[in-house]
Amino acid sequence: ILEDYDQTSDFAAKYVCKRIRDFKPSAGRLFTLGLPTGSTPLGMYKKLIELYKQGKVSFKYVKTFNMDEYVALPRDHPESYHSFMFHNFFRHIDIDPNNVHILDGNASDLMAECQAFEDKIKDAGGIELFVGGIGPDGHVAFNEPGSSLSSRTRIKTLAMETIHANARFFGNDISKVPTQALTVGVQTIMDAREVMIMISGAHKAYALHKAIEEGVSHMWTVSAFQLHPSAMFIADEEATLEL
Ligand code: GLP
Repeated sequence: ILEDYDQTSDFAAKYVCKRIRDFKPSAGRLFTLGLPTGSTPLGMYKKLIELYKQGKVSFKYVKTFNMDEYVALPRDHPESYHSFMFHNFFRHIDIDPNNVHILDGNASDLMAECQAFEDKIKDAGGIELFVGGIGPDGHVAFNEPGSSLSSRTRIKTLAMETIHANARFFGNDISKVPTQALTVGVQTIMDAREVMIMISGAHKAYALHKAIEEGVSHMWTVSAFQLHPSAMFIADEEATLEL
């Protein structure tokens, strides 16, 4: 628990840097990092860019896998997760674009795209550190309430609550919010060697309570990480109001 959003962002960025620096690439394996979108990780991305510019970290030997992407939203739409990631992070650092993996929500065969994503993670040796945020209903990536806790990358129809929550990115017009997304599954994230979930603000307080103080439930998919051997929740004080 840290005081505020700025401190959680700072902590998360420094933690990611430390893990990248401590990783010993072997037999051509790169550090594999799972990444989220949303407003929560923005501060972390800003700090990571600062640390990169100060020469404290390099992303040359990092391979990234994003959690999710909207279906049928053009890749160059300003709210696609592809645009989000390049605009807010990738174009400011020294990552090789070939090492960036983001699901293609416009693929002609979406199920094949999801399977290919799982295969790429496997070929990369699995994910070292998966960073995530949560929705106010406790969803992680787009694993909406009711998702199987053993799910893998697949197509999901978004919950009404998520569509409403994300309307702020689409001019507050819910008719413009995509209704489906491709998302890693809960099990895809569980398979990572380490999971780090960032939670900020009073509107996430109930979800944090459900995530860590009650039982594991597919209605609060983030609660699955109670069973992960190395999971960490980073919260600001406001997010702990219900604990
Ligand atoms: C979307 C994303 C999630 C993210 C959530 C919360 O639903 N798919 O990965 O955690 O939004 O976003 P925010 O951080 O803006 O509250």
